[in-house]
Amino acid sequence: MIILGIETSCDETAAAVVVDGREELASSLATSEELHQSTGGVVPEVAARKQLEFFVPVLEDVCIKAAPKLGLSNYTEVLNKVDAIAVTVGPGLIGSLLVGVNGAKALAFAHNKPLVPVNHLVGHIYGNFLRPLQHSDSNSSDHIAPATYLDNFSNEENIFPALVLIVSGGHTDLVLMKGHGSLEYLGGTVDDAAGEAFDKVARMLGLSSYLGGPLISKAAAECRHNSLLGQLPRPKIADEDYDFSFSGLKTATKNLINSYSSKDSPLPLNEICCEFEIAVVDVLIAKTKKAAQANNIKSILLGGGVSANKQLRTRLLGLGQELGVFVSVPPIRLCTDNAIYIASAAYYNYRPVSADKLDLIKANPGLGIVDQ
Ligand code: KG4
Ligand code: ZN
Repeated sequence: MIILGIETSCDETAAAVVVDGREELASSLATSEELHQSTGGVVPEVAARKQLEFFVPVLEDVCIKAAPKLGLSNYTEVLNKVDAIAVTVGPGLIGSLLVGVNGAKALAFAHNKPLVPVNHLVGHIYGNFLRPLQHSDSNSSDHIAPATYLDNFSNEENIFPALVLIVSGGHTDLVLMKGHGSLEYLGGTVDDAAGEAFDKVARMLGLSSYLGGPLISKAAAECRHNSLLGQLPRPKIADEDYDFSFSGLKTATKNLINSYSSKDSPLPLNEICCEFEIAVVDVLIAKTKKAAQANNIKSILLGGGVSANKQLRTRLLGLGQELGVFVSVPPIRLCTDNAIYIASAAYYNYRPVSADKLDLIKANPGLGIVDQ
């Protein structure tokens, strides 16, 4: 089955053509991230306008890339050939979502294709289900914390039940996945998401005004000796529940940074980044371990933008070894937002809405990971 996936939940406009949920034929992505760097955070209205501007060029680009692989010669032939169109319906920014949802509805109507609504957070899980690309999956980041792959797709009893950890800019969720479409919520953040905490600390340190996770991670990697080890709190690490809280950690980091303004010594930027990163990862690993031990799981699946973090990837793989459980971490290119995993999620959770019932599909910015 050939699915055209569309993702416009925030500041990325993405489209991809994927076969049987596993084989990426083509993908295209445009982002307005740079604009939001200059305003110190995403401006929803600006993001939505950029979605509108990028939507058609991205769609054309992905179809042109996919055409020769399908033995076709143009854009329209690809749209006629696909079996279904999939679109992210939430969570996300309403203006951005509306562009993708209504654009996808127009395409589904014009080409008489079923439309499959996809939950963006569920989409992140499917970064683990795609087959490796022959060339680009061996990038330098993956060398340090290599992607692992769910290689035995025909034998899903080796995967499920799986424990899923989603760590993105807006969400941090632990979920028990008994199979495709069968998700049980275990816990999540009660305030800031892990990615949000990374971004806010990067802003405090003057590293980045918008998405700072990779920059914190880079600075942390340059720290040779963390003399600040244990100075920041690991919120809720010993609590019985599976919830997270990163807001207090963010405030403690701010206080730590401020404490240097009254000292003669310069701000130890790399050490602060290192200690902050370890504090976040300590909590994520501890809660994942607790949930893994309490549930009879066969694998742990990681997803969301923060899953590009090398420290988290490495320690989760270590946890898998310790527990004797298979751990899948997606390749770096499938960690942050894209349409490839949206098309994959649509295949594995196939709930098509026919072209004459498109009113049933609505953008829903507040969707949680277990919401349909
Ligand atoms: O999943 P995603 O692309 O967008 C959302 O759905 O939110 O996640 C973006 C988040 C941002 O907060 C970004 O700073 C974070 O992922 N991120 C990282 C890294 N790469 C991206 N956080 C920590 N370390 C990284 N290497
Ligand atoms: Zn995301």
